Amino acid sequence: TCSVTLAMIKPDAVMKMGSIIEAIFDTGFIITKAKMVQLNRMEAMDFYSEHQSKSFFTDLINFMTSGPIIALEVIGDDAVSSWRKLLGPTNSCVARSESPGSIRARFGTDGTRNAAHGSDSIASAARELEFFFPSSGGRGPKNTA
Ligand code: CMP
Repeated sequence: TCSVTLAMIKPDAVMKMGSIIEAIFDTGFIITKAKMVQLNRMEAMDFYSEHQSKSFFTDLINFMTSGPIIALEVIGDDAVSSWRKLLGPTNSCVARSESPGSIRARFGTDGTRNAAHGSDSIASAARELEFFFPSSGGRGPKNTA
C-alpha cells in the first residue's frame, strides 16, 4: 500500500544528489517535499537522539553537521521498507559486497559516511517528517501533498 517516509541525503553525498534522486524516481517513488539545510549540533542530536548512548554518536553528529543535507518526503508502495531496501546495509563497505546496486554501495564510504538515511519505522517516519517539514501553520506557499 502507498505510504510515506523521510529520506535524507547526507553531507558526503550532496554533490551526488542528481544520481540519488534519479535512483529514487527510477525505483518508482515520488518526491513530494524537498529541503536543503545545514543542521546545527542541537538539531542533529535531536534528530538522532535514539543513538545518543552509542559509541559512534559523536562521530555521527560531527559528520551530520559538517555540511548541508537534503531532506526528502518520499511516497511509494510500502515506502519505509522499500526505501531502506534501496539504501542497502547501513555500512557502505558491507553494502558493496551484499547489495552492490544500492545507494549506500554506490555513493557512501563507510559505516558513518553512508550517503543517505531512511526512517526505520512508520512511527519514525512521522517524527522525522515533522522534524524537517513541520505541519503547523506558517506563511507562504504550501507544499504539495
Ligand atoms: P542512519 O541510517 O542515518 O542511522 C544512524 C546512523 O549512525 C547511520 O546511518 C550511520 O551513519 C551511523 N552509524 C550507525 N551504526 C554505526 C556504527 N556501528 N559505527 C559508526 N556509525 C554508525
